[in-house]
Amino acid sequence: MTQRKRIVAGNWKMNGNLALVEAFSSAIQPAQFPQVEVVVFPPFPLIAQVAKTGIATGSQTVSEQDAGAFTGEVEAKLVAELGASYSLIGHSERRTLFNESDELLVSKFVKAQEAGLTPILCVGETESERESGQTETVISRQVKAVIEELGVATLKDSVIAYEPVWAIGTGKTASPEQAQQVHKFIRDLVAQFDTEIAATLPILYGGSVNEQNSDLLFAQPDIDGGLIGGASLKPDSFKQICESAVGNV
Ligand code: 13P
Repeated sequence: MTQRKRIVAGNWKMNGNLALVEAFSSAIQPAQFPQVEVVVFPPFPLIAQVAKTGIATGSQTVSEQDAGAFTGEVEAKLVAELGASYSLIGHSERRTLFNESDELLVSKFVKAQEAGLTPILCVGETESERESGQTETVISRQVKAVIEELGVATLKDSVIAYEPVWAIGTGKTASPEQAQQVHKFIRDLVAQFDTEIAATLPILYGGSVNEQNSDLLFAQPDIDGGLIGGASLKPDSFKQICESAVGNV
């Protein structure tokens, strides 16, 4: 089987502070998790602090602009300078609460890559889209927006995270089978453009992952790790989730 990079990423959203970075730094040493890349996505002002702990880090979004008169925005190059190596792009909260369109997200994806950050493109359907049988249409649109604009080769240095919107922060995680089905759909979709890139592309699952369900999720053949929200704010829970990824390498 193709060896794909395993990643467990914690998205702190608008949570956390210096004390939480300190708690993570005591609880988590990356060397404890061989073959698993552990990444923390704190709010922008904490990126440099997390980088100093030796844990890989990234931003939750980046601006689609280069430096300039854009009050409140943060440039991808600055994120990289602070020691980050990843950026989330298109988290459902950005798509919904901040009206980020597929087109805008392509621009952000480009800026992240130009700055040397690995983009983690987040995709996922809402509950009503799932109920009306639109899951594959929605995911396909979100993934193809990047491939058709930038070419499939751009995915060689990126990651996709499948996060069904109905599973985010609700405690209603997708079953391992439901998640695997969509992950396989994503890999097959990318394979229509390039089989080698599809085989090596890490695809993470996110949505109510915790230390109780991570093991079965990570055991699925097309699930290469997780993007964790709530449970990533608790160092002990997050550590156990990282351990279950090690057990499923
Ligand atoms: P929860 O793990 O809290 O459901 O959040 C998932 C998420 O949005 C990670 O990006």
